[in-house]
Amino acid sequence: MIFDNGFLEVLGTEDYLLEEKFHSKKNDVYKVRCLKVLEGQKVAVIKKYLQPSINIKREIDLLLHLREKGLSVPEIYFKENEYIIMEYIEGKTLLEVMEERERNNLFRKGYPYQSNEHLICTLIEWLERFYHHTNGKLILTDINLRNFIINNNGVVYGFDFEDCDAGRIEEDAAKLCAYILTYDPSFSSWKLQFTREVFYLLLKKFHLNDEVLLKEVEKEITNINRKRRKCFAIELFSNTIK
Ligand SMILES: Nc1ncnc2c1ncn2[C@@H]1O[C@H](COP(=O)(O)OP(=O)(O)O)[C@@H](O)[C@H]1O
Ligand SMILES: [Mg+2]
Repeated sequence: MIFDNGFLEVLGTEDYLLEEKFHSKKNDVYKVRCLKVLEGQKVAVIKKYLQPSINIKREIDLLLHLREKGLSVPEIYFKENEYIIMEYIEGKTLLEVMEERERNNLFRKGYPYQSNEHLICTLIEWLERFYHHTNGKLILTDINLRNFIINNNGVVYGFDFEDCDAGRIEEDAAKLCAYILTYDPSFSSWKLQFTREVFYLLLKKFHLNDEVLLKEVEKEITNINRKRRKCFAIELFSNTIK
């Protein structure tokens, strides 16, 4: 993949290496290591949009706006028509962190579920600030746990704003619960308890109604079943709430 000289100049480098390709269904996203660095950043992320559209503009505008408001999002170093170069956030995605916690809990067989309140609240506080700084007009829509990284200081960064749209917080809240439940191993007893914790912390923070939110989660799982041709048993989760 060849990028133009503007990119090399911005990164203060004469050469670069695409060190890692990240998991992405929609785009090409790479970790790039600058070789022969003159000054400044040594590592960055290149996101090349495979279907450049109006959504890139939305993503860039939001990254700039939210950063200006002090929300933890990656800094944009360079933007072109089809790609952006941004700050590399060192850490683990929230999906990796959650999977690690589930594995650790399982290794310690016989141990009851350990609360993850602190981790969940860190994410929810990021969400609260996102809704606040978009004046309650936008939701994330694509609220999967790969779109958040927790760095070594425990700070959550959010990104991937291409699908942001008008909507209700309940929609994001319900998607978050539904996505968590359906990551492999889906609907495990640990995931049911983790999601229950997420559900109640979301209710509390955003003053939502439990019946309304539960209905939304059920709707999301029905959507997932249709899209992924699955037959996840919704009541497994509903029973933990009632
Ligand atoms: N700034 C970043 N720092 C570190 N990793 C990133 C960064 N941006 C993206 N990634 C990694 O790349 C993946 C895909 O990027 P994302 O912006 O979510 O694109 P997509 O729209 O294709 O999902 C993320 O899940 C994450 O693992
Ligand atoms: Mg993503």
